[in-house]
Amino acid sequence: MKTKLYTLITGSSEGFGKALAIECAKRKMNLILVSLPDSGLNQLAEFIIQNYNVDVVPIEKDLSVEENCMMLFKEVEQMNLSVNMLINNVGLGSTMFFKEGNIDFYQKQVKLNVMVTTLLTSLFLDMLKANTPSHILNVSSLSCFFYLAKKQVYGATKSYVYSFSKSLRAELSSDGINVSVICPGGMNTNPTTIMTNKSNHWLARQSIMNPDEVASIAIKGLLNRDEIIIPGFMNKLFLLIDKLLPSFFIKMIANSHVNKFKSYNIGNRNHELLPDRIR
Ligand SMILES: NC(=O)c1ccc[n+]([C@@H]2O[C@H](COP(=O)([O-])OP(=O)(O)OC[C@H]3O[C@@H](n4cnc5c(N)ncnc54)[C@H](OP(=O)(O)O)[C@@H]3O)[C@@H](O)[C@H]2O)c1
Repeated sequence: MKTKLYTLITGSSEGFGKALAIECAKRKMNLILVSLPDSGLNQLAEFIIQNYNVDVVPIEKDLSVEENCMMLFKEVEQMNLSVNMLINNVGLGSTMFFKEGNIDFYQKQVKLNVMVTTLLTSLFLDMLKANTPSHILNVSSLSCFFYLAKKQVYGATKSYVYSFSKSLRAELSSDGINVSVICPGGMNTNPTTIMTNKSNHWLARQSIMNPDEVASIAIKGLLNRDEIIIPGFMNKLFLLIDKLLPSFFIKMIANSHVNKFKSYNIGNRNHELLPDRIR
């Protein structure tokens, strides 16, 4: 009998992760969805099962706790589920001056964006090897190419994801595992991000995309084994301009919004980590 294969998506109750889950379901892929407890994951799983006729296993875990990542892997093994696609989507965003954030917030951001991606890749590697051809999709950000004010820690975590993915790809291709990295620009995923996106300067606003549109490009690029996926014409144009124009000019445009707008972090559930004046 053919083994039933699953795509595991982290941070999939909302935003880009949810859009990726629906895109995968449209392509008849069975899913393991992971998000925080009480995040509406069970309802999303039910919706997908009823509408797309695929198998969906929701697992509620706070992935910022290392033991929970281990438990997630153990639960998948105990349920005898075979994963051939790992989508490391979970991430915590922010737009604020470095001095405005506190260390608890930055630690959580580094944990979720860097450590969880690394740890889950390590935990699931043997399973991915056993189920080749298999895929890893890591979610970075366009901000990994630009050194933006108010994006210091976030941008650095996404540079890690980008660099990690490219090196890992070189190592794993001979094992039949494809590694792709997606670098989306702004997406209207949650109320905080929508507010931040709206307050961006005109040029940046032209590149904002709908998460469903980006998810379709992401999965197409992943199955096509693309190394780097840059969704949208405007985002590709930004990268081209970055190569063509002098760096002082790029810095001026990229950071022209710095003092104009309020600071935000992305995860609504993490507001308690920010100082009162930013909430
Ligand atoms: N939005 C953008 O403009 C943008 C641009 C470039 C890259 N990205 C990247 O895209 C990815 C998704 O971003 P998004 O905007 O869709 O984020 P989002 O709307 O905040 O959604 C994040 C998802 O992760 C879950 N989550 C948060 N903390 C978690 C934890 N500790 N353990 C398990 N699950 C957790 C959330 O669950 P709850 O709903 O329960 O909080 C939610 O399902 C991130 O890696 C982000 O850096 C986003």
